[in-house]
Order: sequence, then structure tokens, then C-alpha cells
Amino acid sequence: MNQDKRRRFDSYPGSVSTTSITVIVLAAGGGTRMKSKTMKVLHPIAGRSMIGHVLDAVSALQPHRVVAVVGHQREQVGPHIQELLPDAVLAVQETQDGTGHAVRIAWEALDAGDRAGTVLVAYGDTPLLEGESLRAFTEDHEAAGRAVSILSGIVADPSGYGRVLRDQAGEVTGIVEQKDASPEEAAVNEINSGILAFDAEFLDSALPRLTNDNAKGEYYLTDTVGLAREDGLGVGAFAIEDVLQTEGANDRAQLAALAKEKNRRILTRWMRDGVTIIDPETTWIDVDVKLEPDVTILPGVQLLGATVVAEDAVVGPDSTLKDVEVGAGARVVRTHGELAVIGAGANVGPFSYLRPGTELGKEGKIGGFVETKNAKIGDRAKVPHLSYVGDAEIGEGANVGAGTIFANYDGQQKHRTVIGRHARTASNNTFVAPVHIGDGAGTGAGAVIREDVPPGALAVSAGPQRTIEGWAARKRPGTAQAEAAEEASGS
Ligand code: UD1
Ligand code: CA
Repeated sequence: MNQDKRRRFDSYPGSVSTTSITVIVLAAGGGTRMKSKTMKVLHPIAGRSMIGHVLDAVSALQPHRVVAVVGHQREQVGPHIQELLPDAVLAVQETQDGTGHAVRIAWEALDAGDRAGTVLVAYGDTPLLEGESLRAFTEDHEAAGRAVSILSGIVADPSGYGRVLRDQAGEVTGIVEQKDASPEEAAVNEINSGILAFDAEFLDSALPRLTNDNAKGEYYLTDTVGLAREDGLGVGAFAIEDVLQTEGANDRAQLAALAKEKNRRILTRWMRDGVTIIDPETTWIDVDVKLEPDVTILPGVQLLGATVVAEDAVVGPDSTLKDVEVGAGARVVRTHGELAVIGAGANVGPFSYLRPGTELGKEGKIGGFVETKNAKIGDRAKVPHLSYVGDAEIGEGANVGAGTIFANYDGQQKHRTVIGRHARTASNNTFVAPVHIGDGAGTGAGAVIREDVPPGALAVSAGPQRTIEGWAARKRPGTAQAEAAEEASGS
């Protein structure tokens, strides 16, 4: 999984930019409004942490170096970042003295060689951010040769954000934070998304000049814009149309809203790519899932993790598949599956529980109220009804009778059961593992199989039936059972 992630992070087509890019991701804030043991940027959306989405987006720039600023709960965040991006530099900000302070900490953690070219600053909590947008932004920044560029947004309600200030000619003059803004400044509806691009040389000269002489008593990174103007250097703003891409989640309500929007975008992409999704409102698909054209997703389906669904398969309604591979033309109804493989043309469900290590062959069947675990079920083999299949190998074309239990656990150890090709086992069997049923062998109803059955043999273990006449009348006199028996024998 992690290797997949890493591969994906590197898989963007070559960036047009020729300048080396260093990315600084700020993630030191407490995220107290999440009211969570889990650090804000680690909360997942669409199967990936919020900071995972940001790191994926910035990878599109093929950055020379990524440095993440961590503070609160860095023992959680640091290892997570290094798992996703082993080359990332971690910079620790002990006290959160503002975005300018955070970038200074990052700057000090970088080698001189990384303090060159373009520097992009982003936040760790913007899960909708797309690499394409960052590419367009940095390309605009570099083409204009500015000291600072602001990724801005035009919004209906600018409250909470820094406002982008412009002079009469429309040139950007600075950013003013909400708390420091005059009423006229506060009325400006072009906001600072928080994402800024810098010329490294300018940033190096500006960071020591920042002060905390403002309403929040913090070092504002945004003050660099005014400084660049004073230096007579180029500044400008690049407005992103899709402002949601730069929106952060500060509490669980915003987290849910962004997750829903992220999901809507993922579904739209799949529908454009030829997948039928009957009810997008009740369908959830993680960002790493892969679907082929002409897949159909019925209502109430969650496709999670690294799930892959091949063409013409139909999944749903009401199914959750995590890290499951569904073959072409397979049918999966009301199923919960994890780390399982479902072969082409196979049938699963309704009400099936596929646990890790389940591998169902081509045109095989796992039917209603069947639980499987670490079970290899061959091509065209069937476990149609009410069974537990654990630690098993079932040969091609075999049929397992209704209500069969693979007793894989002797109280201390797990053992395997092997059922041969085209074997036919009857209803209500118990296979006490380790046990081997040969190719083409069979069993009788209610058998408890403790010993191997050779190929072609029939094994029966339930003894001959003993019928004790008049038992109900003698042992249960006066009950409805005895009365019913009496009425039947009287007639
Ligand atoms: C910041 C911007 C504001 C912009 C807004 C967009 C400044 C001064 N203001 O305001 O113009 O409109 O973001 O959301 O830059 N962080 C640290 N260390 C710190 C402080 C912050 O790592 O000492 C991180 C936070 O974890 C967060 C990000 O920086 O990811 C932004 O910090 P926050 O305090 O939310 O900034 P705002 O006041 O929202
Ligand atoms: Ca914020």
C-alpha cells in the first residue's frame, strides 16, 4: 500500500517548470476545534489523510524538497509524513507564533541548496487541493518573475480570511488579516487562500524582517507581500476559480462537508470515465479505487482503499468493499468484503462476509450468509448457503452443501481443510481441520469429517437413525408437543 502511494506520488507527467521548487507545508497548528485525540491533518477523507492529499497535490510540482512544519502531536504527524514521503524534511515549531514564524523554522531546517528557485507554501489541511492548480499557479508566478504571488480567491463571505489589498491601478499592495482590517478593507472579497509562492532569494531576505506587531501578536507570513512592494519587487495574485480546493477543515462539520464534496468530485470523474453510478448520494469511493468502464454501482455502496473493479461488474446495493479486487462481469450483492479477490463472472451475496485472504475463482459463488476467511475457492466452485469457510482450499467445480462449518480452530491452533476438484459435500457438514477431501469425493448429510476422504469415496458419519416411538407422550405429557403427536396418531 505504501509503495503504491509512493509510486503514485511520483507518477505525474514531467512538470513544465525548469526552476527548482521547494515546498513548505504548514501543519503545526493544534486543530483544537476538531476536539480529537487525532491530529487535525491526520483525519481521513476519501481514504487518505488530509495532509496525504496535500502531499499528493504538491508532488505534481516534482519538488526538489518538501519540508513539513510540525508542532502539536508531532509524534503522530511526523512518522505519517515520512511514511508517505520518505525524503521530506521535518521542521519542529515548538510554539505556534504565526505562519511567518513557521516558515522561518522551515527555512532554517533546509540545506542551502534547497533555499533556491521557487518556494511554495501550503497548509496541511486542504484535502481538495489539486496538483494541476498548483502547477498553474507556480507557472504564472515564475512567468511573471514575481517576488511573491498569492493564490487568491473571490468569495461571497470573506470572513476569517486575510484580504488581498490592491491600489487604484489594481496592483496588489499587501494582505491584511481580518483582525487588523479597517471596515473598508474587511469589505474586500478577494481573500488569501494561504498558498503563497516566493522567489527564494526574496523570502530569505524577508523572513528576518517580519515582526509580530499586530492584533494577534504573531509573525504573519502575509506581511512579506508589503515588504516586497517596499523593496520595489513584483507581487501579484492569481485567483483560483475553484476556491474549495484551498478550503481547510477546522472542525468535524467542515470535515464532513469537504469529504462529501471530495466524494462528489471522485464520483463525477468515474461517471465521466464510463462508470454507471445509480445513486451518487449514497455511493462513497476512496481516491485510490480503480474502476473500469461499464462497471455499475448500485445504491448504498462504499468502495474503499485500493479496491479495483473490472468492466461489466455490478456492485451493490448496500455493499462495502475495502481492498477488494472484483473481476469482470462479477456480481456482488449486499456484501462486506476486505482484502479479498472475486473472480470474473463470480457471484457473491446477498449477505456475504468476505474476510482477508478470500479468493473466489472465475464463475464461483459465495452465497447468502456465508463467511469466508483465508479461503481459496476455485473456478466454478460454490459455497451457496449459510456456511463458515476458514483456512480452506476448495478445488474447481466443487460444491459445498448448505450449512457447512470449516472447523479450523482446535482451541489452540488453526488448521487447513482441502476439498478436491468437483467434490460434492452434503448439507450440515463439519470439516474438522486438518482434513482433506479428495477429488470427486462426497459426504453424507450431517457428516462430521475428521479423517481424510480419498478421491471418489463417499464419507458418512452420522449413525443410522434410531426412532423411539411414543417419546413425546411419555417424556412431555400435557404439552402442546404431546397433544400434536396424539392428534396425529389418532387420525
Ligand atoms: C492564514 C493567513 C490568512 C489566510 C488564511 C487562509 C496568515 C497570517 N494568515 O490565516 O491570510 O486567509 O490563513 O486559511 O498567514 N500554522 C503553523 N504554525 C503557526 C501558525 C499556523 O504551522 O505558528 C499553520 C496552521 O497549522 C495552519 C496554517 O498554518 O495549517 C494557517 O494557520 P492559521 O492560524 O489557521 O491561519 P489563519 O489565521 O487562518
Ligand atoms: Ca485557518
